[in-house]
Amino acid sequence: MTQSGSVPRSASNRHWGFSTAGRVFFGWGVLDELRNVGQELGKRALICTDRNIIKSGIAERVEFLLKEGGAEVLVFPEGRPEIDIKTISDAVEAARQFKPDVIVGVGGGSNMDLGKCAAILLRYPGPLQTYYGENAVPGPVVNLIGIPTTSGTGSEVSPVAVVADPDRFMKVGIASRLITPKWALVDPSLTVSCPPHVTAHSGMDALSHAIESFCARIPTDRSPRAIFVGKNPISDSLAKQAIQLIARSLAKAVSEPGNKEAREDMALASLSAGMAFSNAGTAAVHALQYPVGEATHTSHGLGNAVLMPAVLQAILKSRIPELAFIARALDSSLNQAGDDEAARQAPELVARLGDSVQIPRGLHAIGMKREQLNEMAELASGIKRLLDNSPVEFDQAALLNILEEAY
Ligand SMILES: NC(=O)c1ccc[n+]([C@@H]2O[C@H](COP(=O)([O-])OP(=O)(O)OC[C@H]3O[C@@H](n4cnc5c(N)ncnc54)[C@H](O)[C@@H]3O)[C@@H](O)[C@H]2O)c1
Ligand SMILES: [Fe+2]
Repeated sequence: MTQSGSVPRSASNRHWGFSTAGRVFFGWGVLDELRNVGQELGKRALICTDRNIIKSGIAERVEFLLKEGGAEVLVFPEGRPEIDIKTISDAVEAARQFKPDVIVGVGGGSNMDLGKCAAILLRYPGPLQTYYGENAVPGPVVNLIGIPTTSGTGSEVSPVAVVADPDRFMKVGIASRLITPKWALVDPSLTVSCPPHVTAHSGMDALSHAIESFCARIPTDRSPRAIFVGKNPISDSLAKQAIQLIARSLAKAVSEPGNKEAREDMALASLSAGMAFSNAGTAAVHALQYPVGEATHTSHGLGNAVLMPAVLQAILKSRIPELAFIARALDSSLNQAGDDEAARQAPELVARLGDSVQIPRGLHAIGMKREQLNEMAELASGIKRLLDNSPVEFDQAALLNILEEAY
């Protein structure tokens, strides 16, 4: 707020667009809304989930509520972390005869992304590769509902699905507003069974979404219809809210899995960060994580967490007010410090938040070999879709510097 109490002026007069899931439901127990699916989105529901979510009892409750609302239900239980194209085609084959009107992705980002890919392939011919990249989905897909059981990816409100393809050296993305879910059902009670390391990794993923959105470029050359329009006043508000909630509650959610306030904070943070990055876009942290995740077989959130401090160091000079905000959210004693001084602390404070939830420091600690760094930089430098959102232009040499710093 300015002295007069008004909102600061937008940094530019450019046009931008903002979109999110058709409807968002949030709150402890809001899962009960599923009773209305039969009436509003269709009577034939495919649930995409995995064995852990079945063991936790969540999938059964989802099935029960859908049936109570008059829907017929088919469960595909073979979802797996970092979803791959083989599992996606198994889901599509299992569901083809059933002809679902609605696909309910229940679980972490992996199951929600499985649902998104199945929703494409149940409408349009394969292979899935046809739809990689931006705006390659030809038209409306099967209705989607995203129900997150982790607080991290924001896939329930995002236009993105990320898949592992053995024919590529790293994961690939499908980005299209046509795969943004119709409904996002964010019920923090579903995250209570989430194991501590998944809570930590996915929570750091949410932080990376918030930070990359907040620090994103302000492109002047994009139409308001672009998928990623860069930093804008709405994504900034959402990103700031997410950063503050994560600073307050991530460590508590990891150490006290049953803490209701911490779980609610993290669920709201993940949702807000998801809405932010779905419009502003993610950048260099995510571009580097794609090859790093493939090379080290580590989770998306873990790789992002390890890479984030070095990327923040590299963008520090061009995003001083943003990094100062991040630093103050993580350490209130910096409220008295000037922006330059506070911003300089941001990379180390993000690393310390990682320490508090057992994120190891350094790429070497997650299995990366020094001699692989060059290849990582080369692969990441090809991900223009993400690097274009960065506030600083990074060529291959600059990316290698970041990786060496992160090593
Ligand atoms: N679509 C997007 O917008 C987007 C954004 C960021 C990341 N992603 C992708 O999402 C995936 C990562 O998703 P994630 O971090 O949510 O983890 P995940 O979906 O891979 O789940 C990790 C593990 O945790 C288990 N789990 C999840 N919730 C649980 C619960 N409540 N109780 C018990 N077990 C539970 C799962 O069964 C799984 O074994 C990656 O593939 C990443 O690339 C997608
Ligand atoms: Fe992410």
